[in-house]
Amino acid sequence: MRFTPRYIVVFIFPTLNFISCKHDIINVSSNYPKDTVFVVTPPVNTPPGTGTTVSDTVCFNTEILPLYVSYCGSAGCHDVASHREGVITTSYAYIMQGIRANNVSKSEYYTIIGDDMPPRSSPQMTAAHLASIKKWIEQGALNTNCTNVCDTTVFTYTGAIQTILSTNCGGCHGSKPGSANIYLGDYASTKAYVSANKSIFINSINYLPSLAVSKRMPPAGKMVDCKILQIQKWIDNGYPQ
Ligand code: HEC
Repeated sequence: MRFTPRYIVVFIFPTLNFISCKHDIINVSSNYPKDTVFVVTPPVNTPPGTGTTVSDTVCFNTEILPLYVSYCGSAGCHDVASHREGVITTSYAYIMQGIRANNVSKSEYYTIIGDDMPPRSSPQMTAAHLASIKKWIEQGALNTNCTNVCDTTVFTYTGAIQTILSTNCGGCHGSKPGSANIYLGDYASTKAYVSANKSIFINSINYLPSLAVSKRMPPAGKMVDCKILQIQKWIDNGYPQ
């Protein structure tokens, strides 16, 4: 078989469109239903040096949603309960209220970042985070739900862990003192915290059922398994830098 699909697209929930499209959504330019979930399997696990193209699809579930949840959607800000200024950033449908597919400059939930939001006193997104969001909008702002997103042979801090933590935890634990006085914004602090609180940390990211819901991290939803595995390997191998 010489044919290898670059990625697989599956349409889920097509029958729910008529219910959910009743409300006014800013993004009217796209011609796919709002509840469509594109399940994408980027070939990122291909061993380096084999010449296989690595997908450049931006994964909404693992790259974009965690940023909006972590940096904008915490309690008191843009979660469902607080919905400051009517803005909620904790799901695809809510985020699309302020994003226009293929139109970065008209995507208010992108252009405001680093300008008014997040507030100066809160952790700020990095240039790399902004570049991901921009690219995602330019790719059509799809609800890409990726599996197979990690190369689990890579688990050094600079190779993987730093990005996982800044994307998923940075909005709350990325500037000092950090939520619950836990700062995970640099190598030394993260290593110090995790090594001193290993089981608390591991149980928390694994959503251990016996934990209080408020202790499961990140709060808006468990990370994909392969990212948790990368963190576990980083810990098991003595926190390689
Ligand atoms: C939206 C904000 C937010 C995000 C995002 C977030 N945290 Fe937290 N984190 C908190 C808050 C608030 C607490 C205190 C919860 C409590 O004590 O009930 C906390 C507590 C913790 C604890 C202590 C849990 C315990 O049992 O005492 C750990 C460990 C932790 N976070 C790790 C992380 C990691 C790792 C990530 C990213 C993968 C993350 N957090 C993402 C807000 C956040």
